[in-house]
Amino acid sequence: MAHKHNFNLEPVSRFAGLSAAIRRPREIAFFSFDEDHKFRLDASSLRYYYPPALPCNLNKGFETFRQLDDSDDDHLDGLLEAIIAYEKEKGSKTEIDFLTWRGMMTKLMIVPFSKLDEWEMNVTLFQDTIFIEENHTKKISSREEQYSSAGRPGAMSQDLMSFWGYKFETVSLMPTPWPEASREYIESREELMVNNHAQYCSIVRTGFGKVKMILGGEVDAVMAFKPEDKLQPTEWVELKTTATVTNEREQIKYERKLLKFWAQSFLLGVPKIIVGYRTQQGLLERLEELNVQNIPDNVKLKGKGLWDGQTCINFAASFLEWLKTVITSDGVWRIRKREKVPVLEVFKLEESGHGDMLSSTFVEWRING
Ligand code: A3P
Ligand code: MG
Ligand code: MG
Repeated sequence: MAHKHNFNLEPVSRFAGLSAAIRRPREIAFFSFDEDHKFRLDASSLRYYYPPALPCNLNKGFETFRQLDDSDDDHLDGLLEAIIAYEKEKGSKTEIDFLTWRGMMTKLMIVPFSKLDEWEMNVTLFQDTIFIEENHTKKISSREEQYSSAGRPGAMSQDLMSFWGYKFETVSLMPTPWPEASREYIESREELMVNNHAQYCSIVRTGFGKVKMILGGEVDAVMAFKPEDKLQPTEWVELKTTATVTNEREQIKYERKLLKFWAQSFLLGVPKIIVGYRTQQGLLERLEELNVQNIPDNVKLKGKGLWDGQTCINFAASFLEWLKTVITSDGVWRIRKREKVPVLEVFKLEESGHGDMLSSTFVEWRING
């Protein structure tokens, strides 16, 4: 086994005192996947929020759900394709320290408060930028393990619970801004077929401490419309379903979930989360609007103090600054987080090249222009 570099996670308190600067994420590019999950360099899958009628039965239509098959590994493909187009238009290459999907940064940010998480990422250095992707094989095998162990008698199936999240999107979103939407469309949403192939992905430039990065991630919707003027902030909206909280144990579970909600939205500069509370049987009963920037203070002041947002930001900045000192040569590396093990392990998998991480179109564009 190649030499291992360990980044210690404990004591977590050493990250609490720092105050890594963060930049406001700014969208530099975007792309869509259409209803068949075909890549499009446009905003065609952007959706607009309009509240659903309550109560709403989220179970309806599970039999006809057109669920995306994510068994193939797409690496960073969509993100890289959009970056090529962005660089061609700009006429220059983008100088940044890191490029990855938002989901990877979410996993990293929440590490100080996620002892039980287990995941693996692949890393490669190319032209002064460090690229990070999920180890797809590990992701699929963890999911299968989770599914086979979740078969409690009487429990709702994982597939059905995951469907509720997409059903909530279908009944809450519209393909056009509110003034153009017809009353008929709004009222027909409960009957629409649920299809999670379409996505709008926003690509932002952002920064953590000394580290500059590009992140790509799905955003569920915008509140009213997306301003033409790029300097105007966009009122992005993230939708989340969660079980109605009825006791203290469930409140603790919810506040742990808020850490993920917050980190995910914070990274792309999404200011609002619409939480849809549902019963254990999937009946959507109530909506709540959360201001993303207030979530960390609210869990500290009114909640149990289970996590701290600034610690997450400082941790991510420290880890990435350290990672830059480790990933200094060609090849493919792995970052591994194991359940209950208080280190992030980094080690080399391949001595040269970039494995399958970077598309040949991207590499050719960067080398030959
Ligand atoms: P909920 O978050 O309301 O449960 P996102 O919230 O990131 O926009 O994802 C939309 C929906 O995709 C989720 O809705 C959930 O239904 C499903 N989903 C996301 N990540 C998942 C995962 N790891 N396992 C199962 N379903 C997931
Ligand atoms: Mg989403
Ligand atoms: Mg969502």
